[in-house]
Amino acid sequence: MKFETAHSQTLRDLLTWRRDTRHFRPDAVSQDALQELQSAMELAPSVGNARPWRVLSVTSPEKRSQVRSEFQRCNAVAETQYDDKAKAEYRKLKLAGLDIAPVQLAVFTDTAPNEGRGLGRHSMPETLEQSTAMAIFSLWLMARSHNLGVGMVSILDPKKIEAIFDAPDTWRFSAYLCIGHPSFLDDTPLLHKVDWQKNTDTVWAEV
Ligand SMILES: Cc1cc2nc3c(=O)[nH]c(=O)nc-3n(C[C@H](O)[C@H](O)[C@H](O)COP(=O)(O)O)c2cc1C
Repeated sequence: MKFETAHSQTLRDLLTWRRDTRHFRPDAVSQDALQELQSAMELAPSVGNARPWRVLSVTSPEKRSQVRSEFQRCNAVAETQYDDKAKAEYRKLKLAGLDIAPVQLAVFTDTAPNEGRGLGRHSMPETLEQSTAMAIFSLWLMARSHNLGVGMVSILDPKKIEAIFDAPDTWRFSAYLCIGHPSFLDDTPLLHKVDWQKNTDTVWAEV
């Protein structure tokens, strides 16, 4: 496959309009689109080809409610690290779309997979979790290409999430993803827009 300028432009558009989504419409996501998201993960690179990501699609209202409560608990703890002024700003942020997102995925990393036979991770075991992050990003871009939004939620205690989902001993919680149709589109990160954290340039130095 030889790519042309139009492909680069499309990729740039996807990257520009990707954004972390926290505001969703409740409309369902088609099974075909979900299948595409799964296949995007399957195309991701991974250390030793270990493909250590493990995905649970969370449909149970009870489990969703447990995750929401855990988010609220962690978010309340998180705000205590700020002084009064910053705390007031923090409280105004919307940091998850757990209330509405029609699709929710709990993503874990198997820290001891047989697959890959240890290749590439002996001196850097964290490459397994890096591999999961790459699979998540592949899903994220594919979602955008289907006009869906993805919101990543990390304001959670990994141990609590592992317990909620009764995860096997070798699984480590990586991220909780909210997925659905965004209620608005933007090409600018929300945290940049609301002045919490402006975009900074990538450090890219010649040595
Ligand atoms: C590893 C990771 C964890 C994140 N956790 C959260 C989160 O818990 N809540 C949230 O609102 N956004 C979360 N985000 C989204 C970031 O805030 C967002 O990517 C960043 O502000 C830049 O915005 P953009 O993704 O729209 O470019 C997370 C993103 C990453 C990559």
